[in-house]
Amino acid sequence: MKRLLVINGPNLNLLGRREPGIYGSLSLADIAASVGEEMRGLAEIEWWQSNHEGEIIDRLHAAAYGAGYDGIVLNAGAYTHTSLAIADAIAAIDVPVVEVHLSNIFRREEVRHRSLIAPVCAGSISGFGAKVYALAARALI
Ligand code: DQA
Repeated sequence: MKRLLVINGPNLNLLGRREPGIYGSLSLADIAASVGEEMRGLAEIEWWQSNHEGEIIDRLHAAAYGAGYDGIVLNAGAYTHTSLAIADAIAAIDVPVVEVHLSNIFRREEVRHRSLIAPVCAGSISGFGAKVYALAARALI
């Protein structure tokens, strides 16, 4: 059984309430439950969220170098577009990271078109709503 970690960044704790027209009406707990169901028997998935850039970097480090994870699914939220430090952390670790976004970042404001983390991720999935998490998990197993 594969072991995956899903890291969610800033404001994703408010999923379900936050701009539902863009991000949907499911909470992070709802999404975790349905992805867990879909991936049952294929992967054991741990969910983690933080609004703090440094904590996300610490969690990436802690998931590497023998921590037992086969892959990481990362929704870095707005840090996607701003954080060279998170990009450096992804490049520094020995676990593949798949970037996900619920919304299609390329259909949105221009500032969201650029991802600083995409070049250091194994791949990116954007625009399929809550399904992006399961798609990324499948890509990692
Ligand atoms: C997001 C897209 C980002 O641009 C935004 O800042 C988010 C969520 C998404 O899942 O669509 O917080 O990562």
